[in-house]
Amino acid sequence: MDDRGLAGRVAVVTGGAQGIGLAVAERLAQAGAKLAIWDMDATLAEAEAARLGGRAFALDVSDTEATARAAAATEAALGPAAILVTSAGIAGSNGPVVAYDPAEWRRILDINLTGTFNCCRALIPQMRAQGYGRVVTIASIAGKEGNPNAAAYSASKAGVIALTKSLGKEHAGENIAVNCVTPAAARTRIFDQMKQEHIDYMLSKIPRGRFLLVEEAAAMILWLASAENSFTTGAVFDLSGGRATY
Ligand SMILES: NC(=O)c1ccc[n+]([C@@H]2O[C@H](COP(=O)([O-])OP(=O)(O)OC[C@H]3O[C@@H](n4cnc5c(N)ncnc54)[C@H](O)[C@@H]3O)[C@@H](O)[C@H]2O)c1
Repeated sequence: MDDRGLAGRVAVVTGGAQGIGLAVAERLAQAGAKLAIWDMDATLAEAEAARLGGRAFALDVSDTEATARAAAATEAALGPAAILVTSAGIAGSNGPVVAYDPAEWRRILDINLTGTFNCCRALIPQMRAQGYGRVVTIASIAGKEGNPNAAAYSASKAGVIALTKSLGKEHAGENIAVNCVTPAAARTRIFDQMKQEHIDYMLSKIPRGRFLLVEEAAAMILWLASAENSFTTGAVFDLSGGRATY
């Protein structure tokens, strides 16, 4: 089997209980990685981890101490992490900036941006210790373009792009790659948080004329998480069906 250097590696997927994260977790498990699903939905995470032969760790990624505890527990159970895919995230509510709830702004930034920071900060030391690591963060086309009525989400994802570029440079001298993907809309449970007019707006912007499939996202993420991705780091990979031309 061509496992792309994934077999036997410890792989943490945040938000891996469903959606894009689950599609990635399935591919990693098929390739023989030792899977750890990190998710705040403990029941779903347990069920999917059991189905895929992995382990589940329940946490809120915006909680720095909880993230550090999950990193230690993962290492104790499976060994040091070599792969991290950060899919935990929320859309939050839609609305214009001038009427936006500051608490909702902070919640979105805490989970999407600080949560990604917490996970990278907790797990990259395990990668450095073994001289190998692959990190794939999940931003969004919104982080490149800035969607109207989704400023907090867009800003959080622009932050994830910048965090990825900084981290890529910080670890470029080691065999650690840190890259980012910027998906257009994919029909997952995250849609439940959005207004229908916002969903229609996102679809209208995709030249392919359809939503992204989670399997299509997982295919790109899997390569970025593999040993084959031995050179590229600090880069942003488009998954927007033609929306972004940069
Ligand atoms: N689906 C899309 O249209 C789309 C488009 C672009 C980017 N993204 C990004 O992709 C990622 C995954 O999205 P999805 O569509 O699969 O969403 P989803 O809602 O289907 O899954 C997200 C998972 O993250 C978990 N999660 C949420 N907050 C968490 C927290 N604080 N701590 C731990 N776990 C948490 C949830 O329990 C859930 O299992 C998100 O970061 C999202 O912003 C999604």
